[in-house]
Amino acid sequence: MSSLEGRVVAITGASSGIGEATALAVAAEGAAVSLAARRVDRIEALAERINGEGGRALAIETDITDEEQANAFISRTHEELGGLDALINNAGVMLLGPVAGAPTEQWRQMLDVNLLGLLYCTHAALPILGAQGSGDIVNVASVAGRIAAMGSGVYNMTKWGVVGFSEALRQECALANVRVTAIEPGWVATELQGHNDNPLVVERMNKMIEAIEKVLDPEDIARAIVFALSQPPHVSVNEMLIRPTKSAR
Ligand SMILES: NC(=O)c1ccc[n+]([C@@H]2O[C@H](COP(=O)([O-])OP(=O)(O)OC[C@H]3O[C@@H](n4cnc5c(N)ncnc54)[C@H](OP(=O)(O)O)[C@@H]3O)[C@@H](O)[C@H]2O)c1
Repeated sequence: MSSLEGRVVAITGASSGIGEATALAVAAEGAAVSLAARRVDRIEALAERINGEGGRALAIETDITDEEQANAFISRTHEELGGLDALINNAGVMLLGPVAGAPTEQWRQMLDVNLLGLLYCTHAALPILGAQGSGDIVNVASVAGRIAAMGSGVYNMTKWGVVGFSEALRQECALANVRVTAIEPGWVATELQGHNDNPLVVERMNKMIEAIEKVLDPEDIARAIVFALSQPPHVSVNEMLIRPTKSAR
């Protein structure tokens, strides 16, 4: 039997990068998956691919910064896939640059998606997981939630928040037998960095990638998530910090 057979896994930010790779990885292990993102064409194509390969997937167009949509994502997952065993809070945005002179709209977007969106989905999932006395909440934080750097201040703030929240939530959920995991990736080749258009930021990112030589693939993080989910019920993987080998910081 595959390691996640019979489980229902809800994944935010499933339209690209780590979320997409995680959907494919958990589906390959036998889980039914619900896929949330705004780019509905991408999640529908992914659901079609998973269903075509013998899996079970449901695409649900969702902007997680809208509490009603976040609630609907969780309730539709529960109703239409017949349960909920894990929530992967993966959706995120990273808009870098100095604090002075920053377009403050970018701060609101990062706080709304990386913090409030994650909170709304968690809030909607907790009553289900708590009542059944089992389940997983996996929060995709970042190495930026552990190491701060100039030019990354607000992104650091959001990911620091995710790491702190994950440990507080772990304690809150422990007696309900619900596990909480923070995943902290270093540099992964995805669309995340491409939303930055500040030339100094782009130049600094290119230098970092050059120095690292081989950054992580989304599948590397998906494997870590499958590892956490597939542990025996009494084993809770609380935190995983995963860097490219040649990443010095
Ligand atoms: N790539 C890295 O180097 C790296 C390192 C550490 C941590 N991370 C974290 O990993 C997570 C996944 O990022 P990624 O690297 O895979 O980047 P990505 O390819 O850009 O994926 C980000 C995902 O977030 C979704 N998203 C953004 N805003 C959303 C919203 N309002 N509602 C719903 N979904 C939304 C996007 O979907 P739509 O645009 O279709 O809505 C997309 O699926 C993020 O939390 C990121 O901070 C990434």
